[in-house]
Amino acid sequence: AAESARLKAHVRDLLRRQNAVLVAHYYTEAALQDLAEESGGCVADSLEMARFGMEHPAGTLVVAGVRFMGETSKILNNEKRVLMPDLEATCSLDESCPGELFARFCDEHPEYTVVVYANTSAAVKARADWVVTSGIALPIVRHLAEKGEKILWAPDRHLGSYVQQETGADVLLWPGSCVVHESFQADALAEMKRRHPEAAVLVHPESPRDVAALADVVGSTTAMIKAVQQLPNQEFIVATERGIFNKMSQQAPEKILISAPTRGDEGIAQDDKTRCVWMAMNTLEKVAAVLENGANEIQVAPDMAARARVPIQRMLDFAA
Ligand code: 13P
Ligand code: SF4
Repeated sequence: AAESARLKAHVRDLLRRQNAVLVAHYYTEAALQDLAEESGGCVADSLEMARFGMEHPAGTLVVAGVRFMGETSKILNNEKRVLMPDLEATCSLDESCPGELFARFCDEHPEYTVVVYANTSAAVKARADWVVTSGIALPIVRHLAEKGEKILWAPDRHLGSYVQQETGADVLLWPGSCVVHESFQADALAEMKRRHPEAAVLVHPESPRDVAALADVVGSTTAMIKAVQQLPNQEFIVATERGIFNKMSQQAPEKILISAPTRGDEGIAQDDKTRCVWMAMNTLEKVAAVLENGANEIQVAPDMAARARVPIQRMLDFAA
């Protein structure tokens, strides 16, 4: 604990001296989330991270999350230096949707409006008409469907089919998924609900449809945290990455939080399956290192950034 306090003080000092701010996702380790808040940065979902970076005057953004979050920050803040603790921190959704294959898929379906999830590379965003996050996917697709547009959705097929069901839109799905959320298992969740009849079930929409069907609330990380604060239930069964428990228990310390069950057939401990290995690559030590040596700066080719900025800005303008 003394070592962690020393390291935190060191990083706070580096942030101040370098006019830098730490922007962390809810899935990163607790020490990083706490430091981000204590030092004037933020802990947020992916939509709020993008907004915060744009509104904050700091010249350097240290983005603790996965690579697409750093890229989005750079695309929106070309004049700022964007550093990431670990450039290898990717995302299974981003990996499942390579830019060239995706561009070909879009070319084959020119009559569709291309809507991509934020969890994608700059190249995929550059090919899109709209970028959405889980926090704003439904209102944007509803808006497009009302105008009679057909949607090509990538890369998360579970979120895409949830959006299709909720909005009634005509949706063509790319077959991607998140390894963490895909591990949640509906039969075991139904059994857990029987054992905890008073518990509210919160599910991130990247989870399989039959898991989301058992939920009281389906929503983004921010929506799930709000539900823990606002619903009267004492117990919550939570289907998302376990890093979120840090903020949930801070906001509502009296509530009991239970991780939703995962598929049990691979012999991996449940804790491991509900941890995103890429989010876990972010550590205090690495934040200190990149501030000390300026390494791991995110670069996005200017022409690609200019194209990717259009659908991201469209989302931010819609959200405003
Ligand atoms: P949010 O947009 O809800 O923060 O989700 C990002 C993510 O990576 C979910 O796995
Ligand atoms: Fe990507 Fe899933 Fe990790 Fe979120 S939890 S960053 S969607 S791999």
